[in-house]
Amino acid sequence: MAADGLPSHGPGSVDPHSPVPKHAQVRARILDAIDDLEPHSSVPSERVLSTQYGVARMTVRQALELLVAEGRLYRVPGRGTFVSPGKVRLPVRLTSFTSDMTARGVHAGARVLEQRTAPAGRLISKLLEIPADANIHIIERLRLADEVPMAIERTHVPAALAPHLLSCDLQDSSLYETLEREFGLVLDAGEESIEAVPSGTPEAELLGVPRGSPLLLLERVTTSAGRPVEYVVSRYRGDRYQLRASLDVPTDGGAFTRRRLV
Ligand code: GLP
Repeated sequence: MAADGLPSHGPGSVDPHSPVPKHAQVRARILDAIDDLEPHSSVPSERVLSTQYGVARMTVRQALELLVAEGRLYRVPGRGTFVSPGKVRLPVRLTSFTSDMTARGVHAGARVLEQRTAPAGRLISKLLEIPADANIHIIERLRLADEVPMAIERTHVPAALAPHLLSCDLQDSSLYETLEREFGLVLDAGEESIEAVPSGTPEAELLGVPRGSPLLLLERVTTSAGRPVEYVVSRYRGDRYQLRASLDVPTDGGAFTRRRLV
């Protein structure tokens, strides 16, 4: 390890003759080095790193900026740059925030941002398969893992299925557990779409990320015995989540070479 620098596994200085840009080489070296460090460890200054890797400070800055944008490092103004905690590997399955966090030994919490009852309207009524003038409960929560903001979830539930839902504690309790315990609604299937979106100003402030940071937008409709119970729009922090799915081969057969992508 270079004095006061990052742990080094390979060559210290970057290769000036490599076709790989210098800042990309420095990024790769820092990435290797921070693998050995605990989350929240501090990263040496640009000056120290520029000496360690034999490059200009501007090159180190570019590499650090990339790693901050990728969520591998984070900055605290006036204090420096630190190693981010690892991402939560979230299975794409019908699980709840509470069960995902509890399985990791993390305390799941929520701050209720809004809750009210209102007519579903045309779009949501279609998703929940109810008349447009039927009431739904709308609940928006900031989801917390050990008090750290992780996601914003806006949930819509037909009021007829869960009449007194808004008088239940959704701050410290799981919505899914509440639906089951209070209303006998066991969620057994669902559909989810996932896309990337940049965070707007209010979301960024609530989640404590820079404006424009990538978020994972998940839209889910869950059902109980074939009946839609919940339509939820979740915005997960892209710097804290990695979605994982197991893959199986489609049953319609055919060799990969013959199948066309549509
Ligand atoms: C996850 C899902 C949401 C679901 C929520 C329920 O976060 N993405 O669609 O509404 O879990 O979580 P809980 O039961 O902890 O309130």
